[in-house]
Amino acid sequence: MGDETVYHDLEPEVHQKIAGVVSGATPILDMGCGEGRLTNFLAAKLNSEIYGIDISSFNLTKAQEAAEAQGISHLVQYVKGDASKLHFLDKSFAAVVILYSLHEIENPKKALKEVWRVLKVKGKLIVADFIKGGKAEELWGERYYTPREIETMLHEVGFGEMATGFIYDDIVLVSSRKVSTERINELERRITELKIRIPPHSIPPHMLEELDNLEEELQRLEEVEEPN
Ligand SMILES: C[S@@+](CC[C@H](N)C(=O)[O-])C[C@H]1O[C@@H](n2cnc3c(N)ncnc32)[C@H](O)[C@@H]1O
Repeated sequence: MGDETVYHDLEPEVHQKIAGVVSGATPILDMGCGEGRLTNFLAAKLNSEIYGIDISSFNLTKAQEAAEAQGISHLVQYVKGDASKLHFLDKSFAAVVILYSLHEIENPKKALKEVWRVLKVKGKLIVADFIKGGKAEELWGERYYTPREIETMLHEVGFGEMATGFIYDDIVLVSSRKVSTERINELERRITELKIRIPPHSIPPHMLEELDNLEEELQRLEEVEEPN
């Protein structure tokens, strides 16, 4: 049987690692923020705008109280919400963090699709969770995912460039960037189709305008999607 205190003792290290990965990103969303320990830590440590969302009002109240006790409530915003149906605009966040929450979310793929939607182009997602078959599973008997299952879900909703590492032997941290290959492919296809339709001697103004718009968007995406 595992020992619960190990995870408690590891929390500062887990928080530090996550802060290191999201440092410089603003705003940041902590999805399934619980009692706000990570959210408040990030707010105090990073000079970023931080939002915490959770489905539990009870946890959010505790998170807000802790932020007030630490004198950082002006740096964080706690919002009640379901990860599968976020009330944030498209492309709102530079980074999204999901710590020990993915396994609790009823429809994780739907939630990850929502993450994709609210992330800015090139935005970063960090998922850290216990893994299937690890000590945490013996302790709490919850349903966890293997690192491969997490990576597959991320791939399926469109994330790429994954970096996977372990903080402890059964805490996986997967960091990934949003890439929009699908949109790039679609734009390339539409440009080719349009070029085929252009009459041989003169380009009608509406076609020229459409072509310019498509090529401009493609160029923008290709510039921003260059890996760092
Ligand atoms: C194990 S706790 C982790 C909390 C926090 N991230 C931490 O590291 O302490 C999981 C949290 O996910 C929240 N949660 C579960 N399903 C959710 C959903 N669909 N949308 C938002 N939060 C959810 C729970 O209310 C709970 O606070």
